[in-house]
Amino acid sequence: MGSFGAGLQPLVLADAAAVAERVAALLLEERQRWPSRPLGLATGRTMEPVYAALARRVAALEPAARQRLRQEWLSFNLDEYVGLAPADPRSFAAFMAEHLVRPLGLPPGRVWLPDGLAADPAAAARDYAGRLAAAGGLGLQLLGLGLNGHVGFNEPPCPAEAPCRCLALSASTRAANAPAFGGVAAAVPERAITLGLAEILQAQRLLLVVTGAAKGPVLRRLLQEPPHADLPASWLRRHGAVCLVVDRAAAAASALQAGQ
Ligand code: GLP
Repeated sequence: MGSFGAGLQPLVLADAAAVAERVAALLLEERQRWPSRPLGLATGRTMEPVYAALARRVAALEPAARQRLRQEWLSFNLDEYVGLAPADPRSFAAFMAEHLVRPLGLPPGRVWLPDGLAADPAAAARDYAGRLAAAGGLGLQLLGLGLNGHVGFNEPPCPAEAPCRCLALSASTRAANAPAFGGVAAAVPERAITLGLAEILQAQRLLLVVTGAAKGPVLRRLLQEPPHADLPASWLRRHGAVCLVVDRAAAAASALQAGQ
């Protein structure tokens, strides 16, 4: 269904809808075949059609299979803004509630995110990493790609060993994420807690999703450059089981040929 391997060989599909279907099928397969492995999840616009496709697939399951999926669900998100409560509609917790928890009918306490309201965000990051480790580490990790090459909120420069931590967001990331904050970059929180490249690279499989022409330039860099700290996603090249799924718009804008 999806090919996970070493290197970053892109699978180019027609459009974002086709990408969403493929990715949703892989997420569902992971949950059903390896229910004890925590699933690593991401937020962002790229993931909205992915979760919508997943919800449709879950709705189409036999009732017993759907019930089992709900009972066994366990996922850990990559990141959360510091200073936003889960009830704040701009938080990643609220994004997951809207796009995953409610549509899939998941029971409480199965979709974990870092605690954005913790009085000590650095300690909250350590706690989150500990909770993930206690759950056995990540099975499949879903990843989007930031315009500056970040994965999660691992902003450049970022070493491959960076652990889960609280960090400052770059001006370009705050500008990129401004649409969820009324278009005002200054309203985007200054800090976030993110899983590090360390936890991401320890996942059993990595699923990187890149859609839209705007991602062309960073996709091009990702496909051409060796692993280095200024392009955090480039560390994924070191993982032996990566699947990179892109749409034709991103591929064309990166000057890739479809089907390559
Ligand atoms: C965000 C998130 C990432 C996400 C990326 C791309 O800031 N922290 O997890 O994958 O940037 O977002 P989008 O899909 O909206 O382009």
